[in-house]
Amino acid sequence: MAILVTGGAGYIGSHTVVELLAAGYEVVIADNFYNSSPKVLDRLKTITGVDVPFVECDVCDKDQVENLFSAHPEIDAVIHFAAYKAVGESVEKPLDYYENNIGGAMTILQAMKRHGVKNFVFSSSATVYGDPETVPCTEDSPANGATNPYGWTKVMQEQILRDLCVSDKKMNVAILRYFNPIGAHPSGLIGEDPNGIPNNLLPYIAQAAIGKYPAVRVFGTDYPTPDGTGVRDYIHVVDLAKGHVAAVKKLFTKCGLVTYNLGTGNGYSVLQVIKAYEKAIGRELEKNYLPRRAGDIAENYADPRKAREELGWTAQYTIDDMCAHSWNWQSNNPNGYKE
Ligand code: UFG
Repeated sequence: MAILVTGGAGYIGSHTVVELLAAGYEVVIADNFYNSSPKVLDRLKTITGVDVPFVECDVCDKDQVENLFSAHPEIDAVIHFAAYKAVGESVEKPLDYYENNIGGAMTILQAMKRHGVKNFVFSSSATVYGDPETVPCTEDSPANGATNPYGWTKVMQEQILRDLCVSDKKMNVAILRYFNPIGAHPSGLIGEDPNGIPNNLLPYIAQAAIGKYPAVRVFGTDYPTPDGTGVRDYIHVVDLAKGHVAAVKKLFTKCGLVTYNLGTGNGYSVLQVIKAYEKAIGRELEKNYLPRRAGDIAENYADPRKAREELGWTAQYTIDDMCAHSWNWQSNNPNGYKE
């Protein structure tokens, strides 16, 4: 019995591998290092003491995926992380996003069908809630509101999975809607290492703190929020990873299709996050106040009760932990994995 983790060298994938091993699961990692580094595999070994079986594989390549499943008949569940995830890039290259994200999932699901693998965890996103009419979002909030091609790939894949589960009553699928994952493993050995200029708030703050940028950017100060800056539900990546372990356990109860928000239930503004980061590094950061970023919403945070009640999972780490661990990773690895 083993869990295949596609994108297992990536940011969320690597943290999930650590927690799966800690929970006693056998793991197989598949990754093509499109947005990750082979160094992650060494770091995982240092953290866990386990040499995790690894297959270099593009999830869109049918032959490679077939070979992967044939070589590892012990796989009986898949956590599918491997996908493109940059919102702005998806607007520039919609076809690449639909092809890679939907095509990759289809290739994996077809191989699972051929090999009789019935358990699947899908990386969805709070982006499926679009600009929510009310917060917090529950799993029953309308989830067809994507505002960019990346988001639509998540909405569409959720629908594909619902259709699949109608057709095959033996399939067990956990759709996990992530809010804003940040932070890093407390060891400082694995963390987020974006290519180029970071799009997301936390890696940008971390790289400004290390001196790569003169100031942090605050996109919009006139939102209808307490301090005028955008509010999100930031969740420690280790808590998120543990949510996947809880979801895998749920699949093995033969639950059919289930959908969960993975968030803390707390919203923090951009300025509150910057303040927490300043506390972690022990000094103030320069701020560059800019207009709103196109496509951003004012506020989004999760109602995480369903995951608590049905998975027995709740996020444990605070915003201060998230910032301290992010800084521990960034200061120990100023260039990420690219030394
Ligand atoms: N922000 C800044 N400065 C920055 C970057 C971001 O002020 O340098 C602000 C944004 O305007 C927003 C908040 O910080 O108010 C969070 O922005 P992120 O880019 O970190 O995250 P988003 O909420 O925009 O998007 C994230 C993921 C998406 C996912 C979405 C789900 O990047 O993949 O959450 O809600 F779809």
